[in-house]
Amino acid sequence: MRVLVTYATKNGSTTGIAEAVGDELRKKGLQVDVVPAVEVRDLTPYDAVVLGSAIYMGRWQKDALRFGKRHGRELQARPVWLFGSGPLDRSAEEQEIPPVEGAAELMARIGARGHATFGGRLTEEASGFIASSMVKNGKGGDFRNMDRIRAWAGTIAAELQGRPLVEAH
Ligand SMILES: Cc1cc2nc3c(=O)[nH]c(=O)nc-3n(C[C@H](O)[C@H](O)[C@H](O)COP(=O)(O)O)c2cc1C
Repeated sequence: MRVLVTYATKNGSTTGIAEAVGDELRKKGLQVDVVPAVEVRDLTPYDAVVLGSAIYMGRWQKDALRFGKRHGRELQARPVWLFGSGPLDRSAEEQEIPPVEGAAELMARIGARGHATFGGRLTEEASGFIASSMVKNGKGGDFRNMDRIRAWAGTIAAELQGRPLVEAH
């Protein structure tokens, strides 16, 4: 079974989450490609998809939303999980944070199986004036909880390995 883990990032930390998801799925015996959403053209080789995005100003990155639009039908026909990454505190671990608007719409449209919000990361290397001011004001840090990310990926593997691959349509 081949799984696509695809993502949109601005400052690179969502790449790390996608790679951790990919590693865990591989450990469970799945074949996995981890590819930026903007580079994906064809979902034919894949039995399932995990799509994630960094969250900025309450929104998913355009590349992730565009991916959802471009591949709507193919996503509908496959098991899909979504994740967002953003909160620069422990809130994502303390409670379930619902998907941001665009992600919720996509979820409903394609019938995604699940969604998770993971903490994000903001460092001095982040681009933009607002980002640097946030870091200066103590809003920076790495709040990605790799154990939680891997555990989530583990539930995806379990579900995939217990169910049919691509639904008949
Ligand atoms: C200007 C700015 C706006 C942000 N807005 C949000 C937000 O609305 N919600 C959220 O959860 N995180 C927000 N964040 C935090 C980012 O989502 C977090 O740093 C994330 O890990 C960035 O991912 P990336 O490194 O893949 O781009 C914001 C960060 C910056 C710099």
